[in-house]
Amino acid sequence: MTLLLDEPSAAALFDGLDRQPPDALLAVIGMHRADPRADKIDVGVGVYRDAAGTTPVMRAVKAAEARLLAGQDSKSYLGAEGDQHYTDLLATVALGPGLATDPRITGIQTPGGTGALRLAAELIARSGKAPTIWVGTPTWPNHGPIFREAGLTVRTHAYFDAVRSDLDFDAFVAGLAEAKAGDVVLLHGCCHNPTGTAFTTEQWHALAALAAGRGLIPLIDLAYQGLGRGLDEDAAGMRAILAAVPEALLAYSCDKNFALYRERVGALWVQAATPAAVVPVRETILVLARSLWSMPPDHGAAVVRLILEDADLASDWRAELAEMCMRINGLRTALGDAHPSLALLARQQGLFALLPIDRDAVAMLRAQHGIYMPDAGRINIAGLRAETVAPFVAALSPHLPHR
Ligand SMILES: Cc1ncc(COP(=O)(O)O)c(C=O)c1O
Repeated sequence: MTLLLDEPSAAALFDGLDRQPPDALLAVIGMHRADPRADKIDVGVGVYRDAAGTTPVMRAVKAAEARLLAGQDSKSYLGAEGDQHYTDLLATVALGPGLATDPRITGIQTPGGTGALRLAAELIARSGKAPTIWVGTPTWPNHGPIFREAGLTVRTHAYFDAVRSDLDFDAFVAGLAEAKAGDVVLLHGCCHNPTGTAFTTEQWHALAALAAGRGLIPLIDLAYQGLGRGLDEDAAGMRAILAAVPEALLAYSCDKNFALYRERVGALWVQAATPAAVVPVRETILVLARSLWSMPPDHGAAVVRLILEDADLASDWRAELAEMCMRINGLRTALGDAHPSLALLARQQGLFALLPIDRDAVAMLRAQHGIYMPDAGRINIAGLRAETVAPFVAALSPHLPHR
């Protein structure tokens, strides 16, 4: 049989693929880069920046990397769980000493918080129960795709009141009215992306009672621990909810609080109803991880392990993280003091805030003042410096509502 190469095939494999919209944030980055104005301001990119405008490697990370380079004598494979010692040390930071050793909880290393969320989604899909995933909006734009790509059904409900620029807790709870027992509720552990809001202690307790009473399963995304109020403060709500419910999932990222972004460092912990029930959970996440990425990249997790193993490095990491947190909160206070419509920013937390302005205002700020942010008006507070707060607010004020 001869195969004629110029014969048209029945259907090319990739014929049915649709074009995809370009990443809007990348376009903002490109426009900022091309802008020659010396006083341009980038509040678009979502990474921590210091007062010099850079995203430095943390001191403890540099020191741990030097030790790793000198001491690492093999790069042989690890298992699908990655570096289990890393995950267990990190558990004391994330879960706290009580829950870290809870026999109903198991955790493995993942490629970043994204990997943890995807693994969580695959585990939920594998349960065969076909729960709905309830996602408050707005949210990190990758949440929906991560769950849908795993075949899950996502339903959105209100989280934020754009008029008040604040979390709308009543609407968030009311939006869960149709959630059934066994459904999963996504909760940002702290420093909500993109709004900068956070549940109060009372609201966490109300959510814990709601989840426990209605059989809802919390999936907590904790990607910014230590960048809101402090390491333990930022984890307190998550810990309260884990203590109150039988089953829960925690997707964790070290990419921001260790500034390891591109190294892809995260973990997934799953809490099962009983110590016996956690055994198949662990076996299943290992099987799923094996087919997703076989094993997570080692370098960043090894660095985190070295830091957490060493009292001096750990305390230097905590100190530098606290400095970062203070810088963000100092800028929030300055913004809040500068304009009444920004007063809430001072009470909110983390890198992000959603400004009460429309896309026309965003375009005008870009064109007239060289201020760059995505169309939705989400800003990265750490993109500002003490001396750029005043010109930033002056440019912004004509577009802000009067409060
Ligand atoms: C809310 C939230 N969750 C998860 C992630 C994912 O973090 P990672 O870079 O570790 O995958 C991000 C990243 O921006 C985020 O904002």
